[in-house]
Amino acid sequence: MRMFPKTAAALLCMLFLAASLSGCSSGEKRIVRIGHNQATDHPTNVALLAFEEYIEGELGDRYEVEVYPSELLGSQTDMVQLTQTGAIDFCVASNSILETFSKDYTLFNLPYLFVSSEAYHQAMDDPEITGPIFESTRQAGFQAVTWIDAGTRNFYTVNTPIESPADLKGLKIRVQQSPTNVAMMSLLGGSATPMGFGEVYTALQSKVIDGAENNELALTSNGHGDVCKFYSYDMHQMIPDILIGNCGFLDSLSPEERAVFEEGFRMVNTVERQEWGKAVEAAKDRAANQQGVTFLYPEVQPFQDICTPMHRDLLEDYPDLAPIYEGIQAWNAACAE
Ligand code: GCU
Repeated sequence: MRMFPKTAAALLCMLFLAASLSGCSSGEKRIVRIGHNQATDHPTNVALLAFEEYIEGELGDRYEVEVYPSELLGSQTDMVQLTQTGAIDFCVASNSILETFSKDYTLFNLPYLFVSSEAYHQAMDDPEITGPIFESTRQAGFQAVTWIDAGTRNFYTVNTPIESPADLKGLKIRVQQSPTNVAMMSLLGGSATPMGFGEVYTALQSKVIDGAENNELALTSNGHGDVCKFYSYDMHQMIPDILIGNCGFLDSLSPEERAVFEEGFRMVNTVERQEWGKAVEAAKDRAANQQGVTFLYPEVQPFQDICTPMHRDLLEDYPDLAPIYEGIQAWNAACAE
């Protein structure tokens, strides 16, 4: 993944901050800025471009949407902070990093929380499950407006096939900057190395880390499969990405405008999901046939047995999350039938 130089990103951000403070607009139009960390061929970018087209089609006399991919505006943590202050209006953040802004988000980061993709989708589409969590950061200045599928996370390494948890022992594995992911990695025996997504390729190449964990698109869209030759389906997490918006901006919309934006948020979710399945298949094909990645299918149960005590620990620490956790279990049961 090619990164924008940090100084240039900082300059852009200062420009935005100055622009928002001075109420700068293009003519009479309000510019709506959205940042994310994926490449332009990624389903997230495709979905946000559909959002841009839709909003400008409906409200083009008042709003102009600008989508900034590839960490142009900094890391996800930087972008969440820019969204909090209103320097930008929206960004896509992994649910993982949101747990440092609200403990409620910790729930969706639990390993082996959902029994299948179907249960994951049903639960994430259920407003009784996501509603309270999506609202939980309002006091911090932002809220979630929709979720985005990011598939299933699995381990991949430069040269160690992971067939069982024992194979992770002693390996330095990059994880996202979230206490849950660090705890999961430690339980599984690897050495957790938290860092931002944009730093992973260089860390793999320079052997600062032995591997990482992510969905299949990291191999191709981010080039990790050029360095890592084993991808192992232990299926440890289904962590959604979350589109978050600045509350000041959302609250400034008229009811009519808000309805259009809400339709646009639904569109982000559906377009991305339509693109996701195709993108994963294409990534697997390219990784196997052009990058020389071997896909492994280890027994999942030993990984799961080590991780599931984390569910009990979370509910002990945060008993108020229990009703939502039970709601997820109900979807798990319904989808298992
Ligand atoms: C996925 C996810 C991103 C996240 C990244 C990571 O690509 O979609 O939101 O930043 O994983 O591992 O950091």
